Amino acid sequence: MFITYHDGASREITIVDREVPYPDGKLIVSRTDISGVITHANQAFVEMSGYSLDELIGTNHYILRHPDMPAAAFGDLWDTIKSGKKWHGYVKNLRKDGAYYWVKATVIPNIRNGELTGYTSVRRKPSRSKVVACTLLYAQMNMDVQS
Ligand SMILES: Cc1cc2nc3c(=O)[nH]c(=O)nc-3n(C[C@H](O)[C@H](O)[C@H](O)COP(=O)(O)O)c2cc1C
Repeated sequence: MFITYHDGASREITIVDREVPYPDGKLIVSRTDISGVITHANQAFVEMSGYSLDELIGTNHYILRHPDMPAAAFGDLWDTIKSGKKWHGYVKNLRKDGAYYWVKATVIPNIRNGELTGYTSVRRKPSRSKVVACTLLYAQMNMDVQS
């Protein structure tokens, strides 16, 4: 299928209905500039996303967007972080191989000398019950948009 992003870019993606479980005890960390372009990713990020570090750096974070994620979730994320606040949420991410993984994400604005320089996201293992609840909630949100 084709996916189109907010900036008009689009690409063909393969979706595989297979969940890769979040590794125990690991934090997946990335940093972006103010427009969401990845400037830093840790080893856990590389392993879970399936992309090499070279492929990730300089790429927009939307490369991980899964089509099951409602646009409103990201609208809320950007409204929150642009206003200088921390955002928490559950995100279903798309791997390079088309499989997916759920994370519990915290996104923090980076402020240096009073100026916004970018954002940091730290992900943890999500609880199973929250993943089940978000799967239903996001499916409902996507249906509401379509109808
Ligand atoms: C620090 C940071 C981390 C982000 N992490 C993710 C992520 O893991 N997965 C994701 O789909 N979007 C993530 N986003 C949101 C993307 O920038 C983008 O808004 C989202 O994928 C929706 O893309 P689109 O609106 O361009 O289609 C992150 C944004 C920031 C600033």
